[in-house]
Amino acid sequence: MKKITIAIDGFSACGKSTTAKEVARELNYRYIDSGAMYRAVTLYFLEHHIALTNPREVSTALDAIHINFVVNSKGFSETFLNGVNVEKEIRKMRISEQVSAVSTIKAVREAMVSQQRKLGKDKGIVMDGRDIGTVVFPGAELKVFLTADMQVRAYRRQLELLNRGDLVDIEDIIENLTQRDRIDSTRVESPLKKAEDAITIDTTNITADEQVDKVIRLAISRMISR
Ligand code: DC
Repeated sequence: MKKITIAIDGFSACGKSTTAKEVARELNYRYIDSGAMYRAVTLYFLEHHIALTNPREVSTALDAIHINFVVNSKGFSETFLNGVNVEKEIRKMRISEQVSAVSTIKAVREAMVSQQRKLGKDKGIVMDGRDIGTVVFPGAELKVFLTADMQVRAYRRQLELLNRGDLVDIEDIIENLTQRDRIDSTRVESPLKKAEDAITIDTTNITADEQVDKVIRLAISRMISR
């Protein structure tokens, strides 16, 4: 079967990365977490005190940023920023609180989209994010748009953070998700929106296995019809 490109978009904490990772594993495709790239840029900007409103500082910083992904011994992809494993650091709330603002910057988006296209040039890729089906890979053979109720999203994110050793109040998580939804979907540069040809899957009342199953079925039907 020919390899295809699978784009999974949606709001934060709707199950995008859980689904994308497992779909990639089952199809033996490469998984790229585009949100991790924006998070890594945010970490760099914070650590180097980059003024987001200074285009020259932003551009110099972007030139100094190299992001790559390495699959660990357990088979999970981890994010490296300039050779350092930042997988744990980029998931912390201090990054979640700033990442939407950083990802509104045009130069940041251009740099990330260009890297994402390079990573996907040979197909056989599952990429999750906000603009994958609309901007990064508008020609993707399969586009999925995930949604879920806010309460469910917040509990899932709380559990994910707890599993990483961070106990965060549910109200703080709801506030962060609500704010990011607003920034991500109203920004001028490639706002989060469903691609016209994307298939919506509401994950509120289905398990992670069911989500994966639905996407795999869709992927296989696309591979056969190619
Ligand atoms: O998927 P995530 O929650 O880790 O993404 C973090 C932030 O990065 C999200 O709030 C918006 C931004 N993002 C983006 O603008 N475009 C993408 N393709 C992926 C993420």
